[in-house]
Amino acid sequence: MSRNPVPEIRYAQGMGRHSLERHHLLTLEGLDRAEIRAILDRAHAHADDIATGSVERTLAGRFVCNLFLEDSTRTKISFQTAARRLGAAVIDFDARTSSLSKGESMLDTAQTLIAGGAECLVLRHRSSGATGHLARALEDAGSATVPIINAGDGMHEHPTQGLLDVYTLERRLGDLDGKNVAIVGDALHSRVARSLVHALHALGATATLVGPRAFVPPDLGAALGVEVSHDAIEGTQGAHAVCFLRIQSERQGKASYLPSGAYRALYSGAREGVIPDDAIIMHPGPVNRGVELDTATLNDERCVVLDQVSAGIPVRMAVLERALLDEWGGL
Ligand code: NCD
Repeated sequence: MSRNPVPEIRYAQGMGRHSLERHHLLTLEGLDRAEIRAILDRAHAHADDIATGSVERTLAGRFVCNLFLEDSTRTKISFQTAARRLGAAVIDFDARTSSLSKGESMLDTAQTLIAGGAECLVLRHRSSGATGHLARALEDAGSATVPIINAGDGMHEHPTQGLLDVYTLERRLGDLDGKNVAIVGDALHSRVARSLVHALHALGATATLVGPRAFVPPDLGAALGVEVSHDAIEGTQGAHAVCFLRIQSERQGKASYLPSGAYRALYSGAREGVIPDDAIIMHPGPVNRGVELDTATLNDERCVVLDQVSAGIPVRMAVLERALLDEWGGL
């Protein structure tokens, strides 16, 4: 008797492979303007509904699982809030008290959560590419699988952060076509920078990476198709917004690139001339206060750091609907 060596793939919620690919959000690279536009437009509509207290509970009765295997404040709370605003139930998986601490694999953990009813996994992981790896591993295992949303994987991408960043920019600047954003800091280790660059490009905007050579190597600029500058005043000139990045010491291994005093003197927003007069000031958080930005800059009226946090909710509401609703696009 011949046995089919390829196991049949079963999808939760009756999704086929094709539609599941459409429902994952693993990266912004490759998402075109129309797809990004659809998410942003829905997010703008959600923001209006939040303001008027008229949010429709489109995910009532649905079940989202937050699987944060790396620490988070903003992103985790934002996904929880977004899911709950839409009426979904949220389980926060606690890695530290789970069987992961007994050596259970991420695949086994995900299969267990799905078997328990999770219809969408929001995954944060310290390894680059972990979310794509889990999506493929679930398919290869032939078990039930669900949409996976990347909430930040190592130095790879942080798609919902990139989306909320362009959303925040749109609220302030309108159409981003032709606009330029200077991204200042540790771009090499930053998933935020990568996702933001993809989102800006999809919307017709450009980015310039600014920072010391160790953080902004020329080949990174070439790989992302952006200009690079090692001079903070020159690199930010004419930018409509300056997005500062956190120095990510936990991702830099033992290498110490630049003492923080020297970094601050050259690349901090507090340095005279680094932020053009009319530019918006951004940072994904958490801020190393006094290093990338000082208190006075954080209190500046051009600073939208807390707007970025608020923007996370309508943007993630749209992303969760895209993951969970078959009729997404027609909403
Ligand atoms: C970022 C992250 O964790 O990727 N923060 C966030 O999600 N708002 C940026 C960072 O850690 O520097």
